[in-house]
Amino acid sequence: MNPLRTLILAAAGNDTIRHLVATAPVSRDVVRRFVAGETTQDAVHATRGLVESGLSVTLDYLGEDTTDRDQAERTVQAYLELLDKLHSDGLADRAEVSVKLSAVGQALDERLALENASRICAAAEQAGTTVTLDMEDHTTTDSTLGTLRELRRSWPWVGGVLQSYLHRTLDDATALSGEGSRIRLCKGAYNEPESVAYIDQHDVDLSYVRCANALLSGEGYPMFATHDPRLIEIIGERARWYGRKPGSYEYQMLYGVRPDEQRRLAGSGETVRVYIPYGEEWYGYLMRRMAERPANTAFFLRSLVSK
Ligand code: FDA
Repeated sequence: MNPLRTLILAAAGNDTIRHLVATAPVSRDVVRRFVAGETTQDAVHATRGLVESGLSVTLDYLGEDTTDRDQAERTVQAYLELLDKLHSDGLADRAEVSVKLSAVGQALDERLALENASRICAAAEQAGTTVTLDMEDHTTTDSTLGTLRELRRSWPWVGGVLQSYLHRTLDDATALSGEGSRIRLCKGAYNEPESVAYIDQHDVDLSYVRCANALLSGEGYPMFATHDPRLIEIIGERARWYGRKPGSYEYQMLYGVRPDEQRRLAGSGETVRVYIPYGEEWYGYLMRRMAERPANTAFFLRSLVSK
């Protein structure tokens, strides 16, 4: 892995650096480029803007690695409030939510995470929208896929995420390519060991294409989460090859990343969903975005010293 990426991902888990960055006079604009704001109102405002420009949305209330029940409960309440607001503002048909199980108690007790995720799914059903479970580091993959299976018994539309950097993912993609399945395919954002993950980016990309083929040739609804122009082109070609019409799969990109490409794809008739993070816990998320792209890091560091 690129040493800068390793360093930044290490900083994402370092409490001292976390404190320094969180209390530094970081330009509001920098955080705002990747994070919609801290409140439900901010999230709904950003959602409305994107929906009005022809995009769909998935919203992530930021917070991960929760180690106490009260924090997990606050996260559930934030999702319930958000879903209620999406419904009352008439946005629920174009905006769903993404949930990290670690934010609703996975590390404390898997059953608590399942119960909390179930409450969010029930609220999403009432609001008329869907939920996708984000995927975190490889130590949680089995637990998260197990919870996805449980949730899908009651809410068959609950989506999951697979990461092409993991060696296991082609098998998971094949197993999860059946009817009704909604799977987001991404490269993967965590610092994983060679024993479980491809380290060379080219291998990660090759795996992405193999997994995309498995999903496109199945009966489910694949969601291709990438900003990579080469992969976006290949997916378009593979989708045509498998006779997939736009709308029987979708592209997904992160808020603030390649917005012109998001609009271009949507303008060409594709479904494009933008992942909007919001909330006070923006630090870990921002660090992962920095790790992905040195240009983002330079932009961020410049803003730190220029304030
Ligand atoms: P990558 O970062 O390898 O970049 C490839 C190319 O894309 C670049 O060379 C450049 O051409 C272009 N590009 C990338 N960023 C750009 C930028 N800022 N500006 C211009 N061009 C840019 N991960 C995870 O582990 N679990 C999860 O649940 C999710 N969920 C998720 C949802 C959504 C909607 C997205 C888009 C991503 C995720 N991810 C994720 C993150 C994902 O795993 C991955 O880390 C990032 O998407 C970065 O990988 P890319 O595929 O975009 O390509």
